[in-house]
Amino acid sequence: MKVLIAGSGIAGLTTALRADALGHDVELIVKGELGGGSTAHAQGGIAGAYGAGDSPALHALDTMHAGDGHGGPLAIATLVDGAAAALDALVSAGVAFDRAADGSIARGLEAAHSRPRIAHAGGDATGRAISHALVARLRASEVRVRERAFAADLLIDEGRVRGIRLVSGSEIEADAVVLATGGAGRLFAHTTNPPETTGDGIAMALRAGAAVADLEFMQFHPTVLAVGTPFLISEAVRGAGAVLRDAGGRRFMVDEHPDAELAPRDIVARAVARRADEQGSPVVLDATILGAPELAHRFPTIDAELRRRGLDWSRQPVPVSPAAHYLMGGVVTDVDGRASLPGLWAVGETARTGVHGANRLASNSLLEGAVFGARLAEALEAPRAFESLTLLGSASRCSNSSDSKKAGRFSRHALQQLMWERVGLLRDDEGLTDAVRTLHAWEAPSPRTSAEQEDANLLVVARAMASAALERTESLGAHFRLSPALIGAA
Ligand code: FAD
Ligand code: SIN
Repeated sequence: MKVLIAGSGIAGLTTALRADALGHDVELIVKGELGGGSTAHAQGGIAGAYGAGDSPALHALDTMHAGDGHGGPLAIATLVDGAAAALDALVSAGVAFDRAADGSIARGLEAAHSRPRIAHAGGDATGRAISHALVARLRASEVRVRERAFAADLLIDEGRVRGIRLVSGSEIEADAVVLATGGAGRLFAHTTNPPETTGDGIAMALRAGAAVADLEFMQFHPTVLAVGTPFLISEAVRGAGAVLRDAGGRRFMVDEHPDAELAPRDIVARAVARRADEQGSPVVLDATILGAPELAHRFPTIDAELRRRGLDWSRQPVPVSPAAHYLMGGVVTDVDGRASLPGLWAVGETARTGVHGANRLASNSLLEGAVFGARLAEALEAPRAFESLTLLGSASRCSNSSDSKKAGRFSRHALQQLMWERVGLLRDDEGLTDAVRTLHAWEAPSPRTSAEQEDANLLVVARAMASAALERTESLGAHFRLSPALIGAA
């Protein structure tokens, strides 16, 4: 079978390698160079209940709890049960996970995990290690690779997805098209995500009429360096003992949640934003208790970057604030990666499998790419059709309609600012209504270049996200609606 995969993060690479091993004719396209995307930036690690005192059942409970009960039980069971095999496959592919003194894989702790179960490599360079290993494997495989090949739209014939049209205008046909284009953090003015995360696969699916859901659930990471270009300071640092303090030096998270700094990410992010707003300056992450040798050893990437910026975090707490980090929603798939249109598949952050519910548990997304990428490849020949899943979230449609009212000129910068201010961490009816109106008043750019295609995609996904957020009137997980009484207090 001819399989065409767009994207070379953990999801696309895993799918490509497994499909190649199964004898498929695989082509992988990527808009930049191989190994880009969020995967290479992942710090904390990859979750998996593989150690003594832990179990997939406990991992499943934590995943469902962090997702605020919105996750799909089958998808979650599939994820946690697949973790051991996924970890083994990564080790076999050459990923050198950090080891404990007894030789077993070392296990870190992150927020909302009831057990330490995060495997990491190079301290805080897990994504880089995974990306390097899988890209090396890919280069040694039969998979054909086209770099700087920007997927623009799906080719559809008689209701079936038949391939992809590139921004260059050329077309690639395939029996199965896999969207593995990552997330959409670049919708927001402040994000941990690299520049290529512009929601391209989700926009393509929306334009083609495939089911897309849960876009209102955008995760904001609480500890992103608040000076200069946003830079993530891993949750694993809090897992190792760092704490959050306000301007008075108080550990304010102690009053917010029994798990304090290790509460679910959405709770920490909102508390960080609220306290910063109250005191008129960012809160700080205090990792001084860990000491310089431990910080350099356990978190070498973060340590080097902070020192490059003139910050000695072994002596001084560093200012942090939330930034857009991970999109829980996406192209609706079943647990084998099948999307709603025949011939279309999706995997990784682009997909909405249902594992993350309304708020992803830390370090579950690398795992999702590894587990579901392999499953997708195994399912390619299977005759079963996509079964209409019970959608827990709202399904989104593409809307290109423009409101007649003008709202200033569209620019990527204006869109990112609007999304940050109106569709960000704290939402309310008035702001969301304004965002939806403004986004629909903007004209979608006619894409001729890669940058224009990204702009058009951002606008399509922003419209769907803002509309989904407006429609969901209650707070759930990462989607937090301020009640009128709270506006002004937050
Ligand atoms: P990506 O890795 O984002 O890859 C997407 C690929 O698609 C890229 O190759 C990109 O170039 C390509 N692409 C995009 N659009 C197109 C197009 N139109 N045409 C062709 N190619 C295209 N998760 C964890 O589990 N643990 C962590 O410790 C962790 N830390 C993180 C730290 C940071 C700073 C960030 C940003 C994220 C982190 N995450 C972590 C989240 C996790 O890294 C991502 O969710 C995951 O890597 C997504 O993998 P992916 O394969 O779906 O997409
Ligand atoms: C982090 O290291 O804090 C990010 C982990 C994740 O996003 O899963």
